[in-house]
Amino acid sequence: MRKIMLLNAKGGCGKTTLATNLASYYALQGKSVVLADFDRQGSSMDWLEARPQDRPPIHGIAAWRDPVRVPRSTDYLIMDVPAGSHGAELTALVRRAHTLIIPVLPSPTDIRAAAHFIHELLLVGKIVRDETRLAVVANRVRENTTMQNSIENVLNSMKISYATLNTQIYRNLERFLSRLKIPFVATLRESQNYLLADTRGIGVFDLSRSHVQRDLEQWEPLLKWLESKRSIPESATA
Ligand SMILES: Nc1ncnc2c1ncn2[C@@H]1O[C@H](COP(=O)(O)OP(=O)(O)OP(=O)(O)O)[C@@H](O)[C@H]1O
Ligand SMILES: [Mg+2]
Repeated sequence: MRKIMLLNAKGGCGKTTLATNLASYYALQGKSVVLADFDRQGSSMDWLEARPQDRPPIHGIAAWRDPVRVPRSTDYLIMDVPAGSHGAELTALVRRAHTLIIPVLPSPTDIRAAAHFIHELLLVGKIVRDETRLAVVANRVRENTTMQNSIENVLNSMKISYATLNTQIYRNLERFLSRLKIPFVATLRESQNYLLADTRGIGVFDLSRSHVQRDLEQWEPLLKWLESKRSIPESATA
């Protein structure tokens, strides 16, 4: 069974969005999926409640209050973790996972906080590298909005491209990650498609292809990484 956890000490960076989208992706692939919500806000469980009957089933566990008893046949256990988890609570949580995905918003504050969080995870020994694999996903990166266009015009006049600006925002984090050999696996754009899917208990993978083409392309490197051995610690395959 794959055990994948979405986490970041920062709130609102997309933990639940990535958890529900991953769960619905694997369910669509015919996999047996359990979505465990460790956040007492229960956002993942709310999403599951809205899930239409005709969608492939996902088994939910309100893990903030119930024990995580996973059926034997489970292929994927996706875990959604609350913001602000630190100390012993964080240690206990991360030890449940083989693969950790950290979504990070494209603001300097969020990026600095993510670096601190990863530092806490790795260097303070919350996780053991042989037992856990870790990746970072940039989330809600703006593209093609009116605001972006006007920013882009200003930047163009300064001979800086918006893409460069985005890359520059993440560059320090990227350097920090590469020193720690942590992959920066994917960049997901800011898109109404996530809100649309969220309110309906589905993922972007369930929406009409023509609507979500760009989003699906952006998920590709993350899904590939999750398929590869690089995302599975040796202790989990032994
Ligand atoms: N790529 C995206 N494009 C547009 N909206 C997004 C995207 N990712 C997340 N959101 C929206 O941002 C808000 C916060 O996302 P989400 O709830 O997934 O974050 P979270 O890390 O789980 O937050 P919390 O720390 O409160 O649990 C939600 O309203 C969600 O729909
Ligand atoms: Mg959440």
